[in-house]
Amino acid sequence: MEHLAVIMDGNGRWAERRHLPRLMGHRAGAEALDRCMHACRAAGIRYLTVYAFSTENWRRSDEEVSGLMNLLSSYIAAKGKTLVDEGVRFRVIGRRGDLSKKLQNEIAALEEKTQGGDFTLIVALSYGGRDEIVRAALKFREKFPGAGAEDIPPRELERMFAGCMDAPDVPDPDLVIRTSGELRVSNFLLWESAYSEYYFTPTLWPDFDQAEFDKAMSSYRGRERRMGGRFK
Ligand code: IPE
Ligand code: IPE
Ligand code: MG
Repeated sequence: MEHLAVIMDGNGRWAERRHLPRLMGHRAGAEALDRCMHACRAAGIRYLTVYAFSTENWRRSDEEVSGLMNLLSSYIAAKGKTLVDEGVRFRVIGRRGDLSKKLQNEIAALEEKTQGGDFTLIVALSYGGRDEIVRAALKFREKFPGAGAEDIPPRELERMFAGCMDAPDVPDPDLVIRTSGELRVSNFLLWESAYSEYYFTPTLWPDFDQAEFDKAMSSYRGRERRMGGRFK
């Protein structure tokens, strides 16, 4: 497996069950992310994309939104150096212009500093799959004015369009994991996950550990990815 994507869900419920503020759940979620990243590296996975904040998450209370934004900022400040030392390339997909100027600058600085990393952590921030596709359509029109009028083979058109997504050089995710028992995609990687496998677990994201990771991997290994063809 080259690319794992994760919908890190259930932080709020994890905290509520402990009678803690939701933000404590998000903090515990950040630790689960570090564990998951190490598990990925040990398993030889080269890309990890995590859904950290959706275009819909702006609907949450001001307190939770600003708590999440501050958490991101302090994650970057606290973990930045470790990411550089460990060879992790940090990238962000989504509507980064929606974030504060301060956070945008912190992200850009970390992206710059970690450019040489051989493992890529992609954080989806103010991210929506529909939004990414709509922005890609606008980029496509700029890059290929008049395309569509010509006779371009459909596969080639798809390839050109895929080149307009937020991380066009990254292979599509092989597996998408969603924690917390919700059985939906919630606007995550709609284009990129066309042929991804899915793994759903009731475990809340802050409780996601090596054993849970191994279960997901072993489920994935048992799948037959036919991509529409017939191999047997
Ligand atoms: C996922 O946890 C993290 C974000 C959406 C930012 P939630 O905050 O959605 O946790 P639940 O689903 O309410 O338990
Ligand atoms: C999806 O979780 C977004 C992230 C994990 C960042 P949500 O908790 O926002 O999704 P819904 O509302 O349950 O669909
Ligand atoms: Mg949730």
